[in-house]
Amino acid sequence: MEKRIPKHVAVIMDGNGRWAKNRLLPRSAGHRAGMKRMISLSEHIFDCGVEWCTLYALSTENLNRPQEELDALFGLFREYFTKNVETLKEKKISLRVIGNLQLLPDDVREVIGRGEEETKGGARGTLVLAIAYGARQEILSAVNSAVRAGMEVTEESFSALLSTEGIPDPDLLIRTGKEVRLSNFLLWQSAYAELYFTGKLFPDFTDKEFDKALVAYAERERRFGKIGK
Ligand code: IPE
Ligand code: IPE
Ligand code: MG
Repeated sequence: MEKRIPKHVAVIMDGNGRWAKNRLLPRSAGHRAGMKRMISLSEHIFDCGVEWCTLYALSTENLNRPQEELDALFGLFREYFTKNVETLKEKKISLRVIGNLQLLPDDVREVIGRGEEETKGGARGTLVLAIAYGARQEILSAVNSAVRAGMEVTEESFSALLSTEGIPDPDLLIRTGKEVRLSNFLLWQSAYAELYFTGKLFPDFTDKEFDKALVAYAERERRFGKIGK
């Protein structure tokens, strides 16, 4: 069977806290393990031939977590955007960040901006990180822009008002960590995404586990409302 590779894979990286708890470690250790996994997994995803990869790293709702946990996460973002940009550049992967970056500390927003700038033009693929992202907030902001412009929107023009402008809709949406929900992630864009849920906690979601999701995807029949084969 010809293996169909999704053009755009989106991943809700969930389960870091439980991974740490299972090991009697602080939650921050789970986030560190998650970041390590995220770096290797994103390389693997592009090696599989995927062109767009969106990773959900922090939701707008996550910003209500205790400051101690947020500080640990912000520290990891600082580290990621300072240490990893060079490798992404070498691999010709461009970085793009979606979300309400105004909600982040100034210096985190600055390293993100530099990371995007420095990897610009990387043509092998685009790694989209969703940070301080919430789909409902994104949709409302698009609606308000349209209203202000007195614009009647179509599916195309509305999509262009979202933070994912120019990014194809995800073909495959994976959630790790056992929960079976979208938690405010890409609600408009995922209208026809194939969904894949796994009980693996994100730090345990190996490249091999990802390959299983690709196999499952290749076996799906995407009908888009039409009659099947
Ligand atoms: C996902 O892991 C990462 C973020 C939301 C920042 P969690 O922190 O939600 O981990 P669990 O769900 O508590 O295990
Ligand atoms: C979703 O995970 C957000 C990210 C993975 C970044 P959560 O752990 O915040 O989701 P809920 O609270 O279980 O829905
Ligand atoms: Mg969680």
